Amino acid sequence: SGFPSLLKNGLSKLGVPKEFLEFFSRRTGNYPRIPEAKGSISAIRDEPFFMPLYELYLTYGGIFRLIFGPKSFLIVSDPSIAKHILKDNSKAYSKGILAEILDFVMGKGLIPADGEIWRVRRRAIVPALHQKYVAAMIGLFGKATDRLCKKLDVAATDGEDVEMESLFSRLTLDIIGKAVFNYDFDSLTVDTGIVEAVYTVLREAEDRSVAPIPVWELPIWKDISPKLKKVNAALKLINDTLDDLIAICKRMVDEEELQFHEEYMNEKDPSILHFLLASGDEVSSKQLRDDLMTMLIAGHETSAAVLTWTFYLLSKEPSVMAKLQDEVDSVLGDRLPTIEDLKKLRYTTRVINESLRLYPQPPVLIRRSIEEDVVGGYPIKRGEDIFISVWNLHRCPNHWEEADRFNPERWPLDGPNPNETNQNFSYLPFGGGPRKCVGDMFATFENLVAVAMLVQRFDFQMALGAPPVKMTTGATIHTTEGLKMTVTRRSRPPIVPNLEMATLEVDVNSVSSDRA
Ligand code: HEM
Repeated sequence: SGFPSLLKNGLSKLGVPKEFLEFFSRRTGNYPRIPEAKGSISAIRDEPFFMPLYELYLTYGGIFRLIFGPKSFLIVSDPSIAKHILKDNSKAYSKGILAEILDFVMGKGLIPADGEIWRVRRRAIVPALHQKYVAAMIGLFGKATDRLCKKLDVAATDGEDVEMESLFSRLTLDIIGKAVFNYDFDSLTVDTGIVEAVYTVLREAEDRSVAPIPVWELPIWKDISPKLKKVNAALKLINDTLDDLIAICKRMVDEEELQFHEEYMNEKDPSILHFLLASGDEVSSKQLRDDLMTMLIAGHETSAAVLTWTFYLLSKEPSVMAKLQDEVDSVLGDRLPTIEDLKKLRYTTRVINESLRLYPQPPVLIRRSIEEDVVGGYPIKRGEDIFISVWNLHRCPNHWEEADRFNPERWPLDGPNPNETNQNFSYLPFGGGPRKCVGDMFATFENLVAVAMLVQRFDFQMALGAPPVKMTTGATIHTTEGLKMTVTRRSRPPIVPNLEMATLEVDVNSVSSDRA
């Protein structure tokens, strides 16, 4: 501090551009200090951790240091700093603590991996999610959602309320298992050991990400804790299953050698695993398993959370629901959605865009500096742990009009689909820069199909006496006590079938017993 900083403050009040001021402070060797917030975060226990970070952001601004005890984190809520870290100078950052926490389940899979391993795996995996693959998945999304509709049909008939969060979790698990390694968990129908194993591992990953002490590393505890034993057994079951699936797929690929496909697609098995093996991906079986496991988790929890919060938001805004159902009725009629339909579901897309703004999954991105850098005019050392709060970016009161309001209309229907690039890193539902989500198109179509089919067939209301919907976090935002809803079948005007649709009509009718 001292004279140079006084001068700098004075100059900034006179409206001297920021770039000049930064240059000026560098010349005088007088960097400003990052604002510090101390210790108050643990005071708030029954709130998810990103909520106090929002309050602190309003007080301390787009970058501040959060200190508790010997630990300190940089909390970033400023779009240009986020862009710098995620995109412009991404090479100076690693996944840091995230890689440490997730090591037991994802190993060196694509999400936690850094450096050369990440580069090689990203190059192998991105092509697997090409457009034709995602288009081929739309049928799978429809079929899986149809299974969920059958379940809801039964509940509607029996007049029983349903807990939608766990059903969405099962829907997206069924989808991702099939899409990534051609495995049918069928978790909407049955509770098998493997489904339970997946949930055991997921819960453990979430517990570890919020645990104050890494008990799983303590020498004796590691061997005697019943919980850890259960986790290890679950991991073994999943790994064995994955090894089997890899072996089955390898045999299939060997047999089809002669009928070489342009995109390594196989109608019997369009999975990502099949693509990787058929494209001759040279990879150890441990690495392949890590990548499959990573995609299983990344693609399952996130989409389930998006659907959960979308239906919660819709239940609060009947006018949005009405408009949504109008669009779906006029675009889909009585068919399962096709890719052409999805392009026409513009309002539905905006509903999901807006749900992802209010409830970003995950709400916070984690990085660690691996070199010295200057962010937002502040110098930082290597080894800084950084949280980029997407929650704060998405709810910044200066940037968004009525930031907390669920208002899909804020994005014009004829405008571009909002993403981190056209929103200048104020909106990053799928991250940004080289580590952006590889499943963004997949997830968008998956969510569109699920939302469209569900609201086409049912009305959803919060159940009478349902527990209040509060947030809790692991990797994504969960509800504390579930999303209990009353589901009723919609009565719609009869659809006049034309010849082209006749066969599909029969299909759909056999699925849902009640046609109004
Ligand atoms: C990365 C969100 C669905 C696979 C990411 C990131 C975000 C994200 C924000 C960036 C993380 C970071 O920078 O630290 C979402 C959301 C989804 C979704 C909101 C659903 C609505 C999927 C699906 C898949 C997937 C379906 C797989 C098929 C991945 C992978 C990465 C990733 C592999 C790591 C990429 C890398 O580091 O190179 N996702 N995701 N995601 N996502 Fe997704």
